[in-house]
Amino acid sequence: MAGKKAVVIFGATGDLAQKMLYPSLYFLDAEGHLPEGLTVTGFARTDIGEADFIAHTHAAVVERAGKAFTEEAWKKFSARLHYCKGDLDSEKDFRALAKTLDGADDCLYYLSTSPNFFGKIARNLKATGLAHPGARVAVEKPIGHDLASCRRIEEDLSEAFSEDRIFRVDHYLGKETVQNLIALRFANAFFEPLWNKESIEHVQITVAETIGVERRWSYYDSYGALRDVVQNHLLQLLCLVAMEPPASLDPDVVRDEKVKVLHSLRRIGSDEVERETVRGQYRKGFSDEGTVPGYCEETGGAASETETFVAVAAHIDNWRWAGVPFYLRTGKRMPIRSTEIVVQFRQVPHSIFPHHDLIANRLTIRLQPEEEISLQLMNKTPSLDRGGMRLKPLSLDLSLSDAFKRQRRRIAYERLFLEALEGNRILFVRRDEVEAAWKWIDAIIGGWKERDMKPLPYTAGTWGPSSAFALTERNGHSWYE
Ligand code: BG6
Repeated sequence: MAGKKAVVIFGATGDLAQKMLYPSLYFLDAEGHLPEGLTVTGFARTDIGEADFIAHTHAAVVERAGKAFTEEAWKKFSARLHYCKGDLDSEKDFRALAKTLDGADDCLYYLSTSPNFFGKIARNLKATGLAHPGARVAVEKPIGHDLASCRRIEEDLSEAFSEDRIFRVDHYLGKETVQNLIALRFANAFFEPLWNKESIEHVQITVAETIGVERRWSYYDSYGALRDVVQNHLLQLLCLVAMEPPASLDPDVVRDEKVKVLHSLRRIGSDEVERETVRGQYRKGFSDEGTVPGYCEETGGAASETETFVAVAAHIDNWRWAGVPFYLRTGKRMPIRSTEIVVQFRQVPHSIFPHHDLIANRLTIRLQPEEEISLQLMNKTPSLDRGGMRLKPLSLDLSLSDAFKRQRRRIAYERLFLEALEGNRILFVRRDEVEAAWKWIDAIIGGWKERDMKPLPYTAGTWGPSSAFALTERNGHSWYE
């Protein structure tokens, strides 16, 4: 049937699909953004019937949507849902899927599975005629485990789909505040002249979570924090902060600039890992839930050398950023949930306030839990100033949640789905970007192996091993917490 649209979610019963993908589609539908007649088919191994799958998904959507849930919107959305029990290895099951899709010729396949299956899924889609010219594929990060496995997956994907039909997802690119980084940098005149080594001393990018690895242990244990978060989310944020102004918002023009940043990252190999990186793994400690077990106790005491914390001092070897460290840090079981970028400006060249330690300007872009931008400035304290002017650092705050109070905070995947459904690639990662990121990450992993650098313990509820502090302090800097 001509013009029939379908979304297929592979791994439909998994955590990501249930907690993020289905609720995102539900919201899009509730707001009238999904095309008439679009069907949403879940494909997974779980042996349940369609009615049970829909009931299961209903519970997940109710939980995620909270007060924003309405039965009316659900009724409309649930009419789109289908379930196809199947094995990702089985061509026969893909043929059954094709039957369910009933000749849909405008399809988006969303691979929300372990990356080990991406290649198989692409091959089966091709073999069963589902990778037709009207089909697109969206793949979750991480693509592969290293550069070599990433390339194998990419080969399989490109056998079935052309580059303009492959949508590599990094959900950070769908976040409102990450989008806002582009607006902040390029829709305001005063940042650009200061956005360089002359005015900026260093940059910190932190993705801290209070949660542990919980039900994802088996995935997480073979990836670790470096592959799970640094390779993608942190490097994407770094690119958006460090890239040159693109000539336009054309997807390839923006991605050309990002990839140049990745190519300029100084390699951290076995001679540098001990100096430039810190690995940690949480032990028993505290979180908002009270006492929490250590990483290895989460599944009953399996030994593991996987890191749950990483800090890296990265350097971008180009004219704009020479000599400016970019400190990257991510960890599970940190004291607070916080994703933020801190741009630390340099001190004034000459102080006319002899009795004051001036505090250099600092721009903080907070992505989570609140969306805020604040600029710390030195200010005069109101007083008669007998005996000299008194100064105090004050912050100029822009709270995006207050400024746009009535707007629901969207799930990053809503925007990503919409863009992928419409075939817009700006929020997705290009193959050369992913490969350049893996190349840099592989050198670190190789260095860790060569130096036998095992993760250092840290107590759950703290900011990682003490050497993470030394990483910045040796340059006279410190993490902002
Ligand atoms: C995912 C990682 O990509 O990002 C998770 O696999 C991590 O380990 C999550 O918890 C963090 O995303 P967010 O949007 O909560 O910052």
